[in-house]
Amino acid sequence: MSLVTIDHNTCLRDGMCGEVCPQGLFEPDGEGFPAFRAGADQHCITCGHCVAVCPQGAVSHEALPMEDAHLIDHTLAVPIPALNQLLRSRRSVREFREEPVPQAMVREIIDTARWAPSAVNRQPVHWLVIQTPAEVRGLAGLVIDYLRRSTSLEPRYARYIELWEQGRDPILRNAPHLAVIHAPDEWIWSSVDSTIALTQFELAAVAQGIGTCWAGFLMRAANGHLPLREALGIPADHSVFGALMYGFPRYSYHRVPPRLEARIEWR
Ligand SMILES: Cc1cc2nc3c(=O)[nH]c(=O)nc-3n(C[C@H](O)[C@H](O)[C@H](O)COP(=O)(O)O)c2cc1C
Repeated sequence: MSLVTIDHNTCLRDGMCGEVCPQGLFEPDGEGFPAFRAGADQHCITCGHCVAVCPQGAVSHEALPMEDAHLIDHTLAVPIPALNQLLRSRRSVREFREEPVPQAMVREIIDTARWAPSAVNRQPVHWLVIQTPAEVRGLAGLVIDYLRRSTSLEPRYARYIELWEQGRDPILRNAPHLAVIHAPDEWIWSSVDSTIALTQFELAAVAQGIGTCWAGFLMRAANGHLPLREALGIPADHSVFGALMYGFPRYSYHRVPPRLEARIEWR
């Protein structure tokens, strides 16, 4: 039994499933119906394009149950001005309210981030969500320990240590929560796939009124500073590829600050 089967009662033989298959795994049978080639199963990346493109719902994929392949409501298209404003008005939020972000909201955001593109549809990312401010603070302290070790290499770190000693948190900004993404080291696209997934998380969060900020210091320290790595509980064969502080923003922004003109070479 092939991984992909075609319902000949509903298939219109338009060939779309075969055209969108990134692996070119379909060929027409004697009657012009698309058929999964012999041996195609091992090359299928389970991206589901064949299932997603068929207006008749005539394509079934064994690993992608039809009841989980939700219909797209084309009336819900995002208005371009709204999308442009969302992307341009997203800011790195560093001042958070104490009110916690409900876990259900974060679950929904991560659920959306599952649809981020990933090389050959590998979907390699794992999420770690630090929910309590006390644990976030503990992690910031471990990053400070790492910076203390590294001040001889990077003298500018001294300023952050000074702020920490004054009772401020220049590392995780007193954020109530932290989302960390990690993925297997053996996968060459783990870094890119993780960055895209976390970016998708960020945009979905911002759309829900949650503020985020990339946690660069923690990201730098996470793989090199063993106590931090242990506190995060990262599996031995994984690396941390991204982290975002998040929480409800204390302030809202009213203008979009200018950015550099795009550097484009048109050919
Ligand atoms: C990879 C990366 C790491 C970052 N690390 C930190 C950080 O550790 N602390 C911080 O306050 N901001 C951090 N930022 C936020 C940047 O400073 C911010 O994106 C930049 O100043 C532009 O501001 P905007 O995001 O509000 O447009 C980081 C951003 C990126 C993309």
